[in-house]
Amino acid sequence: MITKSSSKDIGRVVLAFSGGLDTSVAVVWLREKYGVDVITVTVDVGQNEDFKEVEAKAEKLGAIKHYTLDCKREFIDEYVFKSVKANGLYQGEYPLSSALSRPLIASKCVDIALREGADAIAHGCTGKGNDQLRFEITIKSLAPDLKVLAPVREWGFNRDWEVEYALKHGIPIKPKRERYSIDVNLWGRSIECGPLEDISSDPPEDVFEWTNPPWKAPDKPEEVSIKFEDGIPKAINGEEMDGVKLVSFLNNLAGLHGIGRIDHVEDRTTGIKTREVYEAPAATCILKAHKDLEKLVLTGRELRFKEQVDVEWCSLVYTGLWMDPLREALDAFIDTIEKRVCGEITLRMYKGSVTIVSRKSEYSLYDVDLASYSSSSLFDQRWAEGFITLWGLPTILANRVSRKKLSIRYAYGG
Ligand code: ARG
Repeated sequence: MITKSSSKDIGRVVLAFSGGLDTSVAVVWLREKYGVDVITVTVDVGQNEDFKEVEAKAEKLGAIKHYTLDCKREFIDEYVFKSVKANGLYQGEYPLSSALSRPLIASKCVDIALREGADAIAHGCTGKGNDQLRFEITIKSLAPDLKVLAPVREWGFNRDWEVEYALKHGIPIKPKRERYSIDVNLWGRSIECGPLEDISSDPPEDVFEWTNPPWKAPDKPEEVSIKFEDGIPKAINGEEMDGVKLVSFLNNLAGLHGIGRIDHVEDRTTGIKTREVYEAPAATCILKAHKDLEKLVLTGRELRFKEQVDVEWCSLVYTGLWMDPLREALDAFIDTIEKRVCGEITLRMYKGSVTIVSRKSEYSLYDVDLASYSSSSLFDQRWAEGFITLWGLPTILANRVSRKKLSIRYAYGG
């Protein structure tokens, strides 16, 4: 009995399959309710799953074919490092880890759908979240003729019902895992739901997997240096590494020191405020170092303008508009400005905190001769006098005018 979605013209569906509860239920549901053939696609963006197990699960649930695509490198190079250049933090806190992976996963599903002659792409996102926007806007931008099926949203699945459905249909579930909704990739872990919905209490320790509790981190601080070229991290402690290795290395090291736990209230695109917990040790270190380097090499004017560009960039990515031409235009601006964001930043990691220890760059605009109060060779202090007159001119003028008006009013008032 199919009442909600018209599946008359749909024979084959490509499903973005993580192997989690939503998408596992979706495989069975799509087959049963929509009567379609399901091809599952799992994109490896560093979630460290047993992909053989995910494939076996898809087959067991009745998928006619399964693809596992290793896209870790593409994810880091084409998505994550663009975000680094844009200082990608949504609302100043969230490193956009899940948001960055969605357009990549969606575009891979489109590739497979076209190759397999599928009529539709399905995803397991709910109607309350951001991910549905990211998937659907990317799919529709790339392949407007493909239909989109969103069974979880369309049929209003909820987690309790899903667990029951899974048990009834022999879908294997991992009870501990189903306590939360978790999304993982190389750039971070996102955890929501369950006990986290109570915003008045600390996240239970079992939500964390990548980070030590800061109070249990090593007693000895550790320093790590990150070398950037054109705004992109290239080497750690002098050793050049490809992006995947570099990010994984920092996740381990900074995680050991308890760095990268983020707990904040976030505004979803759908208007809902939600409590989100993230673990992002590498992102925390890289973004901190990158921003610090920018402050060294860019002019104050560039920094001020770029801050606005960065906020706009994050907003586009968060709200599902990766494919918008504005994002590419902003990237072009960012790429130009990042040509000078080269240098090395050393960080000190200690019990959950990360601080800057040293900065070096051939493009540094910091001039000790100018800055120092002890030497004055380059800066003639007499320049300041005329500068203050001109800089303050409109302010001083406006005050003079309003003072005049006030004194007139006082005169009238007697
Ligand atoms: N709030 C984040 C975002 O919208 C994370 C969502 C990740 N999904 C999850 N199932 N935890 O990007």
